Amino acid sequence: MKILVVGGGGREHALVWKIAQSPLVAKVWCAPGNPGIAQLAECVDIAADDLGGLLAFALEQDVDLTVVGPEAPLTLGIVDRFRAAGLTIFGPTQAAARLEGSKGFSKDLMAKYGIPTAAYRRFADRDEAVAYIRNQGAPIVVKADGLAAGKGVVVATSVEQAVAAVDEIMVAGVFGAAGAEVVIEEFMDGEEASFFVFTDGKNILPLASAQDHKRIFDGDQGPNTGGMGAYSPAPVVTPELHRKIIESIVRPTIDGMAREGCPYAGILYVGLMIAKGKARVVEYNARFGDPEAQPLLMRLKSDIVPVLLGCARGEMRQSELEWHDKAAVCVVMASGGYPGSYEKGFAISGLEEAAKIEDLFVFHAGTAAKDGQIVNSGGRVLGVTGLGRSVAEAIAKAYEGTALISWPGAQYRRDIGQKALNRNG
Ligand code: AMP
Ligand code: GLY
Repeated sequence: MKILVVGGGGREHALVWKIAQSPLVAKVWCAPGNPGIAQLAECVDIAADDLGGLLAFALEQDVDLTVVGPEAPLTLGIVDRFRAAGLTIFGPTQAAARLEGSKGFSKDLMAKYGIPTAAYRRFADRDEAVAYIRNQGAPIVVKADGLAAGKGVVVATSVEQAVAAVDEIMVAGVFGAAGAEVVIEEFMDGEEASFFVFTDGKNILPLASAQDHKRIFDGDQGPNTGGMGAYSPAPVVTPELHRKIIESIVRPTIDGMAREGCPYAGILYVGLMIAKGKARVVEYNARFGDPEAQPLLMRLKSDIVPVLLGCARGEMRQSELEWHDKAAVCVVMASGGYPGSYEKGFAISGLEEAAKIEDLFVFHAGTAAKDGQIVNSGGRVLGVTGLGRSVAEAIAKAYEGTALISWPGAQYRRDIGQKALNRNG
């Protein structure tokens, strides 16, 4: 079978790494890929949002299955276009990807189907939004309706900060059309977790639990990022809570989408806030998490390809996934200055030494090849992922890797996975 993976970050490296191990697979391409992916697949120089270019390539190469990593092509309708051309593709349609692409759509769906989430109101008028904020008080959360590269959410600790956020989104228009509407939402306290299920639009296949670390600095300080590290399993999701999440959140979401006439197939990422043994939805994403995909896929024992195919064809037959009996921890190494501006092009040392360590894998995200060297080329550069018999051992393994790797300005958190240890211990 010939597979095309769309994207070029750490998540796509993990997908390619797992897909390439399947005995069903004869050839893997990745568009655009990165130098780490290039060691496992043939990278093709087509951008992840160049739908026409990707479609032409898939038709020309007779690709059997296309797997979409990032949200941008999904919200642009890559799945609809590939299906219309008779191709098999893993991911939600454009209408279903609104679960991630429009906060207003997802909040309305949750309200309609009784799915637990923060109380909210939608506003297309700046003054009405501001009046509502003044009435509610702080803390309060302001969200641009559309996709804003992970930057469209402000958790405001004061009314002034919330009003300033509304003005930035709606008046200054920093996110363009994505900010024509805002969602103003109740602040939820608790611990966040990432919950993933594969689905063909009807059947649900949950993955192991995982947790991300969104803030740039240790102790969850500083600005939000795409994610600075992740681990699996996450003890905050107890077996009892796992069952409740499926029953009260995942099942009604998948059934609700089908009833709305836009069945959701692919991987559904539910961002949760957990407090007092109860989970509420923070947001949905229409894709795998990055970096959660890295530790999850390293732990996954089952062949992923039949699952991806089943979801893509609307006939997933698997009812359970098999997992390695090990924990996994991914520490993201980022460029100095990220999530603000940063310098690119520094040679990365230590990758070969790290590659020799057992139970360690270094996924590439923002890297590029230059003059025979690997250099940093993005904010999040590497996902250094370790396996161990416990989270503690997996943490030690991942940091054994980060200690070997360096470039000028490289930064990473020293406390990835500690939350799991605190909970266990
Ligand atoms: P989102 O893009 O909706 O996931 O928001 C980004 C981050 O903002 C989340 O991961 C949370 O840390 C935080 N956040 C979003 N909504 C809320 C909320 N209602 N209460 C507290 N924190 C939130
Ligand atoms: N790890 C957060 C995300 O993928 O959005």
